[in-house]
Amino acid sequence: MNASTPGPQDDDALPPCDRGGAVWVFGYGSLIWKVDFPVRERAVARLHGWARRFWQGSHDHRGTPAAPGRVLTLVPAPGAVCTGMAYRVLPEVFVHLDRREKNGYRRVIATLHLADGRTPRGVAYVAGPGNPAWLGDAPMPAIAGHIERAAGPSGGNVEYLLRLAAALRALGEDDPHVTELDRLLRARATPSADTSGRVR
Ligand code: SIN
Repeated sequence: MNASTPGPQDDDALPPCDRGGAVWVFGYGSLIWKVDFPVRERAVARLHGWARRFWQGSHDHRGTPAAPGRVLTLVPAPGAVCTGMAYRVLPEVFVHLDRREKNGYRRVIATLHLADGRTPRGVAYVAGPGNPAWLGDAPMPAIAGHIERAAGPSGGNVEYLLRLAAALRALGEDDPHVTELDRLLRARATPSADTSGRVR
């Protein structure tokens, strides 16, 4: 893995724009809690057939090339439902999103199930097993230990996990993979650490 790890390509398609000239993008990780782009509309949304996993390496945000962090991707999981946030954005926003999600993610087009019943086609950023930053599965305590140690230009890997866990709680969502990692990290925290779920 190096700084040229492929990311979204210009030829990764976008779904057709709606009548307002906008496209939906689905966030399941940091895109839930770090919205650093202009949004026309936002909605809680579900993606059917995919599960959230800390199986993707990060050397550009939550780790370094020498010590990559672990961040989220989606893996195909028949019967699973992943809850996140969908944003209706203008197509030019994808220039920023492609740069932000450059480390092995590709745009995948899928049907989003919005809380109000609408089912637009939208984009999700998915890093598949073929990408050079891929880490894959590991025992949960090993994943928790890896997250505990890693840090990169965007901050500590633990912060990424805690912010996500807090955002999912705020949505009333219990994702067993995230909840278990949150529990393991709190169990590993020193007594003086802030385990309230607040991220300072
Ligand atoms: C996402 O949030 O939808 C993609 C993964 C990430 O940036 O954490």
